[in-house]
Amino acid sequence: MACLISVNSYANQAPKSYAQCVACHGEEAQGNAELKSPALAGQSQSYLSRQLTNFSSGLRGSHQQDVLGKQMVAISKQLTAEDIAELSQYLAALPSVKIINNTEGDLKNGSRYYQGKCGACHGGQAQGNLSLNAPKLSGQSIVYLQSQMKNFSTGIRGNVATDKLGRQMAMMAKTTSGKELDDILHFIAQQ
Ligand code: HEC
Ligand code: HEC
Repeated sequence: MACLISVNSYANQAPKSYAQCVACHGEEAQGNAELKSPALAGQSQSYLSRQLTNFSSGLRGSHQQDVLGKQMVAISKQLTAEDIAELSQYLAALPSVKIINNTEGDLKNGSRYYQGKCGACHGGQAQGNLSLNAPKLSGQSIVYLQSQMKNFSTGIRGNVATDKLGRQMAMMAKTTSGKELDDILHFIAQQ
């Protein structure tokens, strides 16, 4: 009962513009594995608003092969600056929803690689770091994170000259792959 009440009260606070997001990102912004749409609840406001702006301005999702990103390009072009501000504020304040990730890997190695290569920007527990503009990775679908690492390292994301932060992350993504990346993602899944 308590759970139902809290879900309803969050739904009540949602800005009108969130109605068009529910089908893919879910009522609680928990994401949808089948539709490959990420969780948004509890992500930082500045990261969310930057991504929505990047989609609409062509910094993200403009690559021909970025089929999933293109879905967001079409949607974000319909949003006003005020919609983006309201949506990101609303989503950032939502509690993150526990996602079940079935990852496999070596946790000890994953922790070591993560702290060596990712933690300085994304935080020791993958909680994100506002001052470095690095998003929270914990609580996210690992399948989604994996697809973004692939997009970054193959030049599908972070490929536009003016996308400084995306290009920075694309450079980082190229420093890891294979078993090492699997271990890193396994570590992130436990945070
Ligand atoms: C048709 C399905 C669909 C709809 C509707 C949709 N999204 Fe998305 N969204 C996606 C998918 C798929 C991705 C992942 C894109 C990728 O793989 O790069 C995504 C990514 C995002 C991201 C980037 C998240 C991150 O971690 O980088 C944000 C922010 C976002 N969506 C917000 C919204 C908002 C706000 C709305 C409503 C105004 C919305 N989306 C509507 C499917 C959708
Ligand atoms: C120099 C700082 C820095 C380092 C080191 C770094 N990142 Fe990032 N990462 C960022 C920034 C900044 C972004 C946001 C890019 C944007 O705004 O488009 C990002 C974005 C991401 C995303 C996309 C998240 C989403 O919701 O779409 C993933 C996945 C990611 N990083 C994983 C990693 C992993 C794994 C490592 C270690 C191998 C790593 N990062 C190392 C700064 C960094």
